Amino acid sequence: MSINILSSGRGLPKYVLTNEELSKRVDTSDEWIRTRTGISTRFICTTETLVDLAVAAAKNALANANLSATDIDYIICSTVSGDYLTPSLSCQVQKEIGATCPSFDLNAACSGFIYAIDTASAFLQSGKANKVLVISAEAMSKHIDWNDRATCVLFGDGAGAVVLTKGDGLLAIKVTAKGNEQILNIGANFGNCPFAQGEQKSRFLYMKGSEVYKFAVSAMCDDVLDVLKSAGLTVDDVDMIIPHQANKRIIEAAKARLGVGDEKIACAIEKYGNTSSASIPILLSELMELNKLKKGNIIVLTAFGGGLTTGACVIKL
Ligand code: ACO
Repeated sequence: MSINILSSGRGLPKYVLTNEELSKRVDTSDEWIRTRTGISTRFICTTETLVDLAVAAAKNALANANLSATDIDYIICSTVSGDYLTPSLSCQVQKEIGATCPSFDLNAACSGFIYAIDTASAFLQSGKANKVLVISAEAMSKHIDWNDRATCVLFGDGAGAVVLTKGDGLLAIKVTAKGNEQILNIGANFGNCPFAQGEQKSRFLYMKGSEVYKFAVSAMCDDVLDVLKSAGLTVDDVDMIIPHQANKRIIEAAKARLGVGDEKIACAIEKYGNTSSASIPILLSELMELNKLKKGNIIVLTAFGGGLTTGACVIKL
């Protein structure tokens, strides 16, 4: 099926926010955060905009593929935290890197990277594009109530990117949606229309943590087994599972249910926190840079998020 990953890249803000620093702001502790989530630090935007992070990731991925921006036929950004509603983040990136191709954003919350791969794969398969730049970039720090200890400790900012080309590396892919705004949402800007009578929603991220937790573990395990089955493979054939980084305990529970060892499941939540749709490509780029992934390896990507959405795929590198 339709894609090969040519390269990857990432972009992160400079500022590293530690659990200790957070403990001075809200009633929490390094011990609580580490034992309940696995997170020690996260990167947070101070002077950077989201487009800065996305451009850094894009340039890094293009350089690693030895390509210039004009070689790209489509730019797809997944984000829930663009600097503008319009122009899209992808149009801003297009301008900054000097690309000339069509560009658009998609929103599938934390599953956005898998949705973007699915979309890019359709473009590559149909011949609409030969090279697609996929970027997932998130500044979750904009959406968090920094006085709410239950959520402000969980998230970080960052961007990850891949350059995709036509190939036969995508062995199976699955995306799902199950509309539900009750357990996870971020309200939109309602403006100041004097005629509006609806209830104003909170613009901060709202989450029923334990319900998301239960949904996450079962969705990830079901999706991983489904895509492996579609690819005619089992977990024994997999070199690395790269799950969305939301909580170390979710990753541990999925690991136990799938019966895989530590060496087969990637985790960097300690350093980055939850960067929503950017978490998988950030980690992918780190693993590629460290030569922990090699050509021919079989990897499984799996994510869940607001919507509720999920997505998983099996890729031969
Ligand atoms: N520091 C100290 N205490 C805290 C903190 C904190 N930062 N946050 C919550 N607590 C307290 C609560 O007030 C509660 O106290 P109480 O028992 O007196 O009421 C107690 O800790 C336990 O709270 P729980 O919410 O039950 O804690 P839990 O062990 O479930 O962990 C967590 C909460 C980390 C949010 C967990 O449920 C989780 O990870 N859920 C999934 C979240 C997730 O995936 N989020 C990503 C959403 S976006 C996306 O990526 C899909």
